[in-house]
Amino acid sequence: MDHKEMHLYDAFALMRDLLDTHDALDLLIKTGHARFVDKSQLFWVVGSPSLFEINGSRIRNEDILELVQKAREGQENSYAPHSHFNVGAAILAENRLRDQKIFSGCNIENAAYSPTLCGEITAAAKAVSAGYRRFLAYATVGGFDDSMSDELRAKTVGTYVTPCGRCRQFTKEFDADPCMVIVAPDEGPFLISTLEFLLPAGFGPKNLGVDPSLYDRHAVK
Ligand code: THU
Repeated sequence: MDHKEMHLYDAFALMRDLLDTHDALDLLIKTGHARFVDKSQLFWVVGSPSLFEINGSRIRNEDILELVQKAREGQENSYAPHSHFNVGAAILAENRLRDQKIFSGCNIENAAYSPTLCGEITAAAKAVSAGYRRFLAYATVGGFDDSMSDELRAKTVGTYVTPCGRCRQFTKEFDADPCMVIVAPDEGPFLISTLEFLLPAGFGPKNLGVDPSLYDRHAVK
């Protein structure tokens, strides 16, 4: 019986894990809800694409690598003169015709701070405003720019820029369920999980009887 299965039957085992773990990422890994994957493990043979699977969510290895690449391209346009922390994101989304496309974004800061948009939000807004409302997977990358001290930069190299709480809620609206979340630090393996496990028992459109991928403004009476 693996760890994940055990938790279905043994709440005490889950409690023990909770007490043992130092942070939420530890717990995700321990319970099999997230995995660290070395880039070199992600490869494919032309003609027989290999699939990466976690929690029943499947994605082709080449899509994972492409998403991370597109997130890094998004990061190039990051506007972060206040935090100097540049974030990029890329979302693989599907429209009503089942066409799939990748939308990238970056964080856009504001002198008044609170109007700041995260990278995930700008990528999501681009996808939804183009009619792509089913999010199959997304990747995030981030890090300080060169103006910050080496000491501070060193502290964050290899850390995981997991989506913030607001981003998790915002993207949950369009979660294809499962939606894979890939977090790629500048150095070290990718962290791969799903939105469901990053936002457990969250409140979403289903709670209001809505399926965002079917919504059509012309059909609203
Ligand atoms: N940021 C994102 O773009 N996404 C996240 O999920 C976490 C934080 C941005 C917001 C702000 O511009 C900078 O990172 C520092 O918090």
